[in-house]
Amino acid sequence: MRIEHKPATGGDELVERVHALLAAPRPWSVTQVGDPVLRRPAQPYDGQLPDGLLRKLLDAMFLHLPGVGVGLAAPQVGIPLALAVIEDPADVPPEIAAERERVRQPPLELVNPVVTPLGSRYHAFYEGCLSVEGLTAVVPRHAEVRLSALDGSGHAYEMELSGWPARIAQHETDHLKGMLYLDRAEPRSLSTTANYERFWAPPQAQG
Ligand code: CO
Repeated sequence: MRIEHKPATGGDELVERVHALLAAPRPWSVTQVGDPVLRRPAQPYDGQLPDGLLRKLLDAMFLHLPGVGVGLAAPQVGIPLALAVIEDPADVPPEIAAERERVRQPPLELVNPVVTPLGSRYHAFYEGCLSVEGLTAVVPRHAEVRLSALDGSGHAYEMELSGWPARIAQHETDHLKGMLYLDRAEPRSLSTTANYERFWAPPQAQG
């Protein structure tokens, strides 16, 4: 027997979804490629969440990262809003850090971010995504970008990023447009992460 129920309004449903996410154990299970939420442009944030809930969501997104990844976009955890967080301790061998211009990126909140390329320098490196488990591929990215966004308190900021932080900002902002790194990857470089470690990782990255 079907039980009729009155559907919640879109806004309430979103709020309920955020509460459910905050109650779920971390690290969260991240939405995997094939789920339509990853292919829909995220809604610009314009106050869909009640006071304080955006703050809690962003804080929880940062708590998801350690040991898991260096960035997370809200659609990856089923929240279709233009929100992302970035934090990279850059805890890698110095040779890798130098090659990739991977410098420490302190926590950064991206609300309605816009990334603008600066200059014409591109870098191509292997990249992965929490929503594409077990795979990696070479992705060319702008080496320098300008990031314009709001922080979680609604303050607008603008900064220039280069190297690995610029790559992360491009990756996360792509998520909010419904794009995945696979869309920009060199198809013949696609590898399982296990085969990447086995055949393609620089020797210093192994061990
Ligand atoms: Co990703």
